[in-house]
Amino acid sequence: MPARPRGGGGGGGGGGGPAPHGSRDRIVVAIDGPAASGKSSTAHLVATRAGLYHVDSGALYRAATAAQLRIQPDVSRWTEAQMQEAVALVTLVARPTAFRPMIAGADIDLEIRGPDVTRYVSLVAQMPAIRGWVNEQVRALARRHDIVVDGRDIGTVVFPDAALKVFLVADPWERARRRLIERHVRRPTDADIAEETDRLVQRDARDATQTVQAKDAILIDTTTLTQEEQVSRIVALVEAARARAAERGSDGRG
Ligand code: CDP
Ligand code: CDP
Repeated sequence: MPARPRGGGGGGGGGGGPAPHGSRDRIVVAIDGPAASGKSSTAHLVATRAGLYHVDSGALYRAATAAQLRIQPDVSRWTEAQMQEAVALVTLVARPTAFRPMIAGADIDLEIRGPDVTRYVSLVAQMPAIRGWVNEQVRALARRHDIVVDGRDIGTVVFPDAALKVFLVADPWERARRRLIERHVRRPTDADIAEETDRLVQRDARDATQTVQAKDAILIDTTTLTQEEQVSRIVALVEAARARAAERGSDGRG
């Protein structure tokens, strides 16, 4: 039975829904790592079990990219003004254990995982205005809710004081194999995996500047782990971080 997230519901960057807890310090768990290392699915399961909201910062970069592609499919004609228009269409909506981006109030789960968005998202993620917009959305949620956020720079830039930081890595071949299976390629051939590995490694290179392991992050290599193993490891770390935060609070130091 999933634990209920603490801090009440409410979408649109944290507004609406039941009243959140008062001034109690919020818990932020940061899960970073390269593409397909297991961040989002792990963060989602950790959130469900530990009673936090999941926020997928990569989905926000993808939503900004999808909205921009709707406005101007020709990437060579993108302008900063259009990007501002594009992100204004994106809202964050509260689900039972997650905040999900929508465009003009409609579901975009499939659109943001498509090949066009995946091809151009790293370009959009280089734009300082878009990085600022994503960070602002996520920080607004953290003021009202206990959250687990996954991305690339969550533990370094967005929440350098996060209660817990995890950096997930896995062998590129294994990451590619998992991504294909996730996309319903039941028995990927070596050629399929090699092609997907190339795509992932190229995207890792484009994202290298912001994909940084924080000094105080716990490194978990998921190559030989089951998802259940990595999830239970992180849930145990979340509980330990909560106990530390509660102890600091009762000492009057928090
Ligand atoms: O799921 P996957 O790791 O393939 O990508 P994602 O988390 O959905 O992120 C999509 C893209 O957003 C990445 O390739 C990065 O370019 C960008 N991103 C970022 O720059 N910083 C973040 N905190 C999260 C994502
Ligand atoms: O968010 P990110 O791109 O880092 O990865 P993901 O989309 O959460 O994970 C890629 C796929 O790997 C998902 O289908 C997971 O279920 C799967 N997987 C995993 O994350 N960890 C394992 N130990 C085994 C499979």
